[in-house]
Amino acid sequence: MGSILRHGGNAFELESVVGAGAFSRVWKASGPQGAAVAVKILSRRGHGKQARAERAAFQREVDVLQHLSAVEPQPHASLPALHVAFSRPSADVLVLEYIGGGELLDLVNDDRAHALLSESTLRRMWTELTDVVAWLHAHNVVHRDIKLENILLTSRFPAPPPPGAPLLKLTDFGLARAIDPADPWLRTRCGSETYAAPELLLASASADDEPAYTHLSRAPTDGGPEGAYDGRETDAWALGVVLFALATRRLPFGPPAEPAEAERRAWVRRVLKGDVEWPLARRDREDGGEVCGEALGALESVRRIVGRLLVREPAQRAAVAELVGAW
Ligand SMILES: Nc1ncnc2c1ncn2[C@@H]1O[C@H](COP(=O)(O)OP(=O)(O)OP(=O)(O)O)[C@@H](O)[C@H]1O
Ligand SMILES: [Mg+2]
Repeated sequence: MGSILRHGGNAFELESVVGAGAFSRVWKASGPQGAAVAVKILSRRGHGKQARAERAAFQREVDVLQHLSAVEPQPHASLPALHVAFSRPSADVLVLEYIGGGELLDLVNDDRAHALLSESTLRRMWTELTDVVAWLHAHNVVHRDIKLENILLTSRFPAPPPPGAPLLKLTDFGLARAIDPADPWLRTRCGSETYAAPELLLASASADDEPAYTHLSRAPTDGGPEGAYDGRETDAWALGVVLFALATRRLPFGPPAEPAEAERRAWVRRVLKGDVEWPLARRDREDGGEVCGEALGALESVRRIVGRLLVREPAQRAAVAELVGAW
């Protein structure tokens, strides 16, 4: 029997670890009446600036999910329900709806599963994703950590979702925040570098980095104050990286954060130039039916949509709402 976490008359029996982030551990647990829940436990044992940032992330995730779950007439189906959140001296705890199909990253990394991914399923995933992100933006929330690890399938692929349920849900609201649409500018850089838009990479380039790409180092212009970015536009870029990776099983600019500084700069330069590396078209799986697997990367619709999102100038990048139904 797993250990039991009690709160307010409810007991959550922790069964197995289903995910571990940098500062959290997520358990599959059984809650009241045996229902499956996900228990995200953020340790409070650290000290200093990092520990304060983690606490802030917990508070933000709770605030954002509570705010979104109160939206009328109903919250978006592709968001996880937050059942309860509470704090202990040693840990902050979120009890969330359990989403059982695993991360999109696992699907991309699994040869056999990805080979079964069809155009119609990819289109459905994409439709749901753009729909939920456009909905967040319409409710003045930016996610800021959109990536394959934070998008979960409701059923283990290729099993279909339960009737009426979405195929996927967007999770991890630890970096999300509300914005004022009249003044949407944000300054705190966050999220994964792999999915970071050029305006985030430029603003976070240290003074030492600058000379390597001075010809590109002018901040992209979209009317914001210098060094600030619009999280709706950086979410749009991240979605472009997600679609590229889902279709091709690669990253559009190759892997970032090579330990060698020179390679890192070369990578940053490719991102800033928008040098997307499309793999050679593979159409071999098309015979007798739908395009599946890596051949998805050759689809005109995939390339067109990615091409509207991985655009260096934020003002010229498609807004997520423009892409709803664009496939
Ligand atoms: N509601 C859920 N149901 C099932 N699994 C979940 C759920 N929430 C999170 N997970 C799993 O746990 C992992 C980590 O969760 P989450 O991304 O929320 O934590 P995190 O600490 O913010 O992660 P990171 O620091 O890596 O961004 C997810 O990638 C996913 O695999
Ligand atoms: Mg995460």
